[in-house]
Amino acid sequence: MPECFVAKACEMQDGDRRIVVAGNAEIGVFYKDGAYFAYSNTCVHAGGPACEGLMINRVVDVIAADRTYQGQTFSDEVHFVCPWHGYEYELQTGECVGDRRLRLKKFDVVRRGEDIFVVV
Ligand code: FES
Repeated sequence: MPECFVAKACEMQDGDRRIVVAGNAEIGVFYKDGAYFAYSNTCVHAGGPACEGLMINRVVDVIAADRTYQGQTFSDEVHFVCPWHGYEYELQTGECVGDRRLRLKKFDVVRRGEDIFVVV
């Protein structure tokens, strides 16, 4: 399988990402909590640059035992948000959190020494 160079490992800090072009494909490569994730940079909604948007932890409602609303907080689940219309994707899986049947195409990432590559 062909590989496309992404970056030197030391060039990517926690929460960083790179957009690489491999043939006709744009791929977003994320580095978060010691792991790399790579997805197609083409949003399933209307083709926007899904991997270039804000990264944010999932917002969850806090509901008390008496079922009253207590506000909101963040979970440990990290999302990134397509900047065109706000489709949100889970970083670990590439699933669209608004409709889990939809997901971005995922790519493998390999590290060879200090070099990071995405398998295309
Ligand atoms: S193109 Fe990504 S949300 Fe519309």
